[in-house]
Amino acid sequence: MPQLIDFLNLKKITEKYSSEINDAVNRVVRSGRYLQGCENEIFESNYADYIGTKYAVGCANGLDALIWIFRAYIELGLMHRGDEVIVPANTFIASILAITENELVPILVEPDINTYQIDGNLIEDAVTSKTRAVLLVHLYGQCAYTEKIENVCRKYDLKMVEDNAQAHGCKHRGRKTGSLGDAAAHSFYPGKNLGALGDGGIITTDDEKLASVMRALSNYGSTEKYIFKYRGRNSRLDEIQAAVLNVKLAHLDEDVKLREKVAKAYIQGITNPLISLPQVMNWKEHVFHIFPVRCSQRERLKDFLAEKGIQTLIHYPIPPHKQECYKEWNNLQLPVTEKIHDEELSLPISPALTEDETTYIIGQINKFRP
Ligand SMILES: Cc1ncc(COP(=O)(O)O)c(C=O)c1O
Repeated sequence: MPQLIDFLNLKKITEKYSSEINDAVNRVVRSGRYLQGCENEIFESNYADYIGTKYAVGCANGLDALIWIFRAYIELGLMHRGDEVIVPANTFIASILAITENELVPILVEPDINTYQIDGNLIEDAVTSKTRAVLLVHLYGQCAYTEKIENVCRKYDLKMVEDNAQAHGCKHRGRKTGSLGDAAAHSFYPGKNLGALGDGGIITTDDEKLASVMRALSNYGSTEKYIFKYRGRNSRLDEIQAAVLNVKLAHLDEDVKLREKVAKAYIQGITNPLISLPQVMNWKEHVFHIFPVRCSQRERLKDFLAEKGIQTLIHYPIPPHKQECYKEWNNLQLPVTEKIHDEELSLPISPALTEDETTYIIGQINKFRP
């Protein structure tokens, strides 16, 4: 048996690029410029090229990136407090916090039980005269976009906003997620496929006006030094993080390939009928941020794997509508979302997971009997 298998060994991932990272960090240290310098400029340009958008605006984290998109639409007069935003009910809380933070109203829509992405067949029914946007969350690293969803957005003149926090490098028919809608938020939380050594975020868009409002909002609302057009905040991306991200961006595609190898082994190797495997819509385009299985005996499976030295996590144990911060929704019934939150278990997946470890995990899962 291998030693304890971490859900995600960040130290091992970072060590792989440590000499390049050390050089990049030292360069920033020596530069004397720690905010709003050339590392941000280079990273924004590289990231916009990678995603395929005209603009990329760095900011402090993924939640802020989402907040700034909606706030910028409000500042531009395209959305107003009380307007509705359609969002998957099973997303991470940040997608929803960004909507309510702007005094917009989230309309929770159920996901598909097999892909975990928002159910595109339910979106049109959720549209009202107050709907202004659909927030597509590419959850677990799989693309949530479909032409059908885009058609609904076009028909009702809705903004299509993407939450790409979990899906750097993911594609739809060759186009990267983050370039499919009107604007997209990305997180560089350390555990993400493209992770910083701390917090970080970025917004991508082709919309020049939106980009410049978001840039101002993340810098106190300032359009030029000491001129404050908006009530913004301090939400900038550090130069050190931008330098680290520049190093890691160059290796993102190779890391995604390694994740895909693990996912393939899981899908081919896990045969225990008690485990439901995720539906992969397109192997070449999925980036496998999280490998979610479902099991009606989830807690027992988790404990069993822990006894065998395998660390797992749950994404996520309590859905947003059952959280205390959204008390007003606690009685809502969203059975698909609730089933996912009751049964989901995330297996270790990362570019640092070895073949032996993957084989061992598969063997143990296949032995599980509650
Ligand atoms: C789907 C989703 N949206 C938004 C965020 C927020 O990103 P951050 O942690 O960088 O604020 C995260 C990650 O944490 C996420 O998983």
